[in-house]
Amino acid sequence: MCGIVGYTGNKYAVPIIIDGLKRLEYRGYDSAGVAVHERNAIKIVRAVGKLRNLIEKTANLKASGTSGIGHTRWATHGKPSEVNAHPHKAGSIVLVHNGIIENYGELKARLIKKGVIFESETDTEVIAQLINFYFQETKDLFSAIIRSIKDLRGSFACAVLNEKEPDKIYLMKYESPLVIGLGDRENFFASDMPALLPYTNRIVFLKDGEIAVLTDKTYKIFDFSGNEVKREPEIMNISISQAEKGGYPHFMLKEIFEQPEAFINTVRTRLHPDKGEIVLDELNYKISERFSSIHIVACGTSYHAGLLGRIFLEELAEMPVYVEIASEFRYKKNFFNKDTLYLFISQSGSTADTLAALKKCKEAGMGTLAICNVLGSSISLEADNTIYTHAGPEIGVASTKAFSTQVSVLLLLALKIAGEKNLLKRKEIKKYINDMLSLPRLMEEALKSSENIKDIAKKFHKYTNFLYLGRGLSYPLAMEGALKLKEISYIHAEAYAAGEMKHGPIALIDENMPTFLINPESPHFEKTLSNMQEVLARGGKIIALASNNDSTTKNYTDYIIYIPHINTYLDTLLTIIPLQLFAYYCAVLKGTDVDQPRNLAKSVTVE
Ligand code: M6R
Repeated sequence: MCGIVGYTGNKYAVPIIIDGLKRLEYRGYDSAGVAVHERNAIKIVRAVGKLRNLIEKTANLKASGTSGIGHTRWATHGKPSEVNAHPHKAGSIVLVHNGIIENYGELKARLIKKGVIFESETDTEVIAQLINFYFQETKDLFSAIIRSIKDLRGSFACAVLNEKEPDKIYLMKYESPLVIGLGDRENFFASDMPALLPYTNRIVFLKDGEIAVLTDKTYKIFDFSGNEVKREPEIMNISISQAEKGGYPHFMLKEIFEQPEAFINTVRTRLHPDKGEIVLDELNYKISERFSSIHIVACGTSYHAGLLGRIFLEELAEMPVYVEIASEFRYKKNFFNKDTLYLFISQSGSTADTLAALKKCKEAGMGTLAICNVLGSSISLEADNTIYTHAGPEIGVASTKAFSTQVSVLLLLALKIAGEKNLLKRKEIKKYINDMLSLPRLMEEALKSSENIKDIAKKFHKYTNFLYLGRGLSYPLAMEGALKLKEISYIHAEAYAAGEMKHGPIALIDENMPTFLINPESPHFEKTLSNMQEVLARGGKIIALASNNDSTTKNYTDYIIYIPHINTYLDTLLTIIPLQLFAYYCAVLKGTDVDQPRNLAKSVTVE
């Protein structure tokens, strides 16, 4: 839930670390800190609040040492305060940590008994003190780290400095992301690639259960038993502009507008229009031959993508699908079935609940598949197979392009299985493929309605409650639209299957409860239109989302957003755009922090 970054080389470390922290701030932003080697000592500076506070405090550190580490925090153990901010010091050890140590209470009590004095309330200080404790005995930091890891239960990506070894940074990884970047007589590490891309595209992915030792010229990787592991760097062809705002006021807006590109990057190489075939190289088997049903597990926006996926898979591929929230799945009684494929969806690939649910399935011997955006993430490494979404880095906390690429992959899966089962003929799959190839142009068209949406947001952003209604595919989209509005504009919004209105929610309707009605062309069109009339009859205001060939809806409301129509399944990728834009403009008009909404973090790597 936090971001860590570090540098060792021939340049001053602090500006590079601060730059990396700026790119990682989306991971947590309630306090931040840096530690840098400075003449046989380590200088630590920490500040509560946004990164700018740390930047002010480190102004005179710009030209200090050439080796250091940094941290941006999302508090889990201990309130946001300077003393709880990282880095934490124990003896000559200084440490930053992303993750959560589940047995920290027990370890802390044990260390206190041995006379160790703690400064903070954090679980992280326990790791620093534990390593320092063993370091006193072993006099060798590497061995002390290995001993400490044996005692730790939980997730961690840590970087450790030692006053006595100014040329080295020790890294350790278990269930929290950590990548190394290789430069010329300089090396870097970070929780996520965007922090490294301005400096290098030579990336080494650390795996769970590994320790790395970085110097300015070398990197060595070991397993938790201390055996060396050889790993070559990978060249990442992701441009830095992909990870920056590119002229947009917010990452979220940039990422909404990147959806046509993200979509095509995700599907292009997988579409074979000549053969009328979908090719998913990541799958070395036919799903329909091994499995008769699919169980999808995910959180938040990824869960909503899973709900859409269910409809694709059931309708196109005749696969029974069950969709569950990971935090529920992981603790309930599961009726595992070897004929079921367990499918995990996660943008970050590091969501704690989804990862735990995946591990539960693996322990039960189930077949697993992941849909992830972050390369080398814990979920992608843990699953039997992973289909990547290629959305590029998503920095805004509100998920947008990750959602549309997840939905795209789910549609590819459904079409592929439908082809395997001969439910769709090559000719029909070819038609879907051709529609997909024309989708980016239609997405661009949908994005052009942003001015109209901004005007509608001006009229509606002061309301405090909203209903989102839709049927069939539009119901999960209503859920996603409502989530977007809640998380960035802090307006309370509830989504209902439109047919459920009469079973209770209709009582809420009056002039203060606007309804966002999602009703593009579909077999449900007429029925949802009736729901619209029920709302209007009770004095409710309606914003309607309609296909641009619809001539009826305009008779009932002045607030209409039109989207192009291509086919019911692909329309979902057009419908989502106005929902994202509406939430975005409401948030901007309300003056909230769009990219870093309160209380949230991009990757929820703790429970
Ligand atoms: O990285 P993941 O896809 O596993 O994240 C799951 C949710 O935390 C995430 O989708 C969250 O709901 C977003 N903030 C929604 O915009």
